[in-house]
Amino acid sequence: MGENTDQSQKNITGFRPPEDFARNAIVNDPDIYGRAEDDPESFWEENANGIEWYRKWDNVLEWEPPLSKWFIGGKLNACYNCLDVNLKQRADKTAIIWEGESGDIRKYTYKELLEEVSSFANVLKGTGVKKGDIVTIYLPMIPEVVIAMLACARIGAPHSVVFAAFSGESLATRIGNANSKVLITCDGYSRRGKVVEQKNKVDEGIRSCGLLDKVIVMKHYGNDVSMTEGRDVWWHEVMKDSESSCEPEVMDSEDMLFLMYTSGTTGKPKGIVHTTGGYMVATHTTTKFVFDLKEDDIYWCTADCGWITGHSYLVYGPLSNGTTLVMYEGAPDYPDKDRYWDIIERHKVTILYTAPTAIRTFMKWGPSWPQMHDISTLRLIGSVGEPINPGAWLWYHENIGLGKCPVVDTWWQTETGMIMISPLPGITTTKPGSATMPMPGIKAAVLDEKGNEVPPGQDGYLAILKPWPSMVRTVFGNEERFIETYWSKWDNKTYFAGDGAKRDEDGYFWIIGRVDDVIKVSGHRIGSAEFESILVSHPSVAEAGVVGKEDELRGEVIYSYVTLKSGVEESDELKSELTSYAAKNIGPFARPKQIIFSDDLPKTRSGKIMRRVLKAIANNKDPGDVTTLQDPAVVENLKEKTRILD
Ligand code: WT7
Repeated sequence: MGENTDQSQKNITGFRPPEDFARNAIVNDPDIYGRAEDDPESFWEENANGIEWYRKWDNVLEWEPPLSKWFIGGKLNACYNCLDVNLKQRADKTAIIWEGESGDIRKYTYKELLEEVSSFANVLKGTGVKKGDIVTIYLPMIPEVVIAMLACARIGAPHSVVFAAFSGESLATRIGNANSKVLITCDGYSRRGKVVEQKNKVDEGIRSCGLLDKVIVMKHYGNDVSMTEGRDVWWHEVMKDSESSCEPEVMDSEDMLFLMYTSGTTGKPKGIVHTTGGYMVATHTTTKFVFDLKEDDIYWCTADCGWITGHSYLVYGPLSNGTTLVMYEGAPDYPDKDRYWDIIERHKVTILYTAPTAIRTFMKWGPSWPQMHDISTLRLIGSVGEPINPGAWLWYHENIGLGKCPVVDTWWQTETGMIMISPLPGITTTKPGSATMPMPGIKAAVLDEKGNEVPPGQDGYLAILKPWPSMVRTVFGNEERFIETYWSKWDNKTYFAGDGAKRDEDGYFWIIGRVDDVIKVSGHRIGSAEFESILVSHPSVAEAGVVGKEDELRGEVIYSYVTLKSGVEESDELKSELTSYAAKNIGPFARPKQIIFSDDLPKTRSGKIMRRVLKAIANNKDPGDVTTLQDPAVVENLKEKTRILD
């Protein structure tokens, strides 16, 4: 038995799993931790039997640090595991309950979903997509995003889903990096009652990239769009005569299932590569364990399919467990601030998985909104995306969980593919604000700069010490960056997560937040360097330093320190122009909160902007030793400029 894993043996103060919940939970025997720790490979192998394979693996793991392969020699299809396997027992069970912002509802049974997916898979084949070709998907939260993803998986074409709120330029960068020839998008969609003209964004963005052969456009909102002859086709037209059965492609365990772009410390967004076998085993298993999914649950994950949470815990995990899932297209305050609770009441949702930033917003709106509805069907509630402060955790537990639902605060990342640190709701005593313990089979630690474990209560870096099935395999087209980013902090066997953390006396993990130049705005991940390069592409800007400032509601907001080109006047107009410029070039979620003009920025003697110092200034913290700066006086000047904003 590992030293710190078996929490049930200790007398920990916190929220114990309610007795009847624990009794009926899928996982309620704490021995699972010890068994998995003693022999992680057998643990994962046992769970791999939850997936259907055309051919089973020869070996569970091949680990040549930092490169790993899982379920070597195994053959399977991810779409088959989400749809076909459910046909025997639950063909007519609802797979998706979709609700549009306008109130439209569409439902698909497993059988219907399989037909749609197969038809669309045939459409993709018809446009020439072959196994291994990367297809880009740029759709809002409509059933077609799931259909398109699964259709890709069915024919062995890795998908790259780009969050619908990204700009056309951001889309083009990702299409270019993936060398993707086919794009699936829609005319437009509704956000707080206003149209977002998605197809127009596509046309603007890809003018420059000229890579695409085919654009398939789903007619969703009904706004006017222009269609490029020979390239653009309507979804409904190509689907009309498409054959509704399609043999799934037999995929190797290590064939790429999808690419997911995410922001890092430097440069352009990187394509995180996930493969098929390990990812399916990991998401299938963790969905079942963490959410305690049962046959009659109605499960709602509010994440967007444009992010990893939508991939792992809206599509692949839940559907491979035969779940009925709810999918909602719109804003939480449209038409009013009770929209989520109204959805939960009407669809009798039993499990809710959402983000701290949403929870803090609900908290600000007050408990009268959830109180307008019967949300007592909920039996488990979860959180993901950024640290949840104890106050928000307690509010969530009390007002949404009605004091009776276990809360699962789940720590993980695009790169990990699966939930890594989280309570098991039938076992773990939870403490508000702590993601608690690594999942069975996961070995995590908090290390210092040298790679030694830090004592309880002390801050350090979060590290993963053993490989896991859904770990990122590489950065698409850039193995060097993969190794440099994740496997170079200590030795090449220890994964550097980029988060700060500490453990308490009970061994519980408390995640503090990013220690690199990644900013988390409302849970969205934005890279400082990426943002700076957008700002300096504006004709008035000479230099920019972009950092996160702590924010009660959004976790962090963006502070941009900008030096203008000589001769350019500082003005409020220019500030708002730069704000819109950034929002337009990345996406509206990346709107900077403050733009601060300054004649100079804190730089090292070699001229590198010191974000560490800027971050301290933005957060009214001590910037530490600044004597190595080119001009230490800059700090006082910026402090003053920042102070007057607060
Ligand atoms: C980063 C990963 C995981 C899917 C959504 C975000 C932060 C995520 C938690 C949590 C504290 C969290 C970390 C992590 N994060 N979940 N429960 N507690 N921090 O995926 O965009 O790849 O971001 O989100 O900083 O490194 P992502």
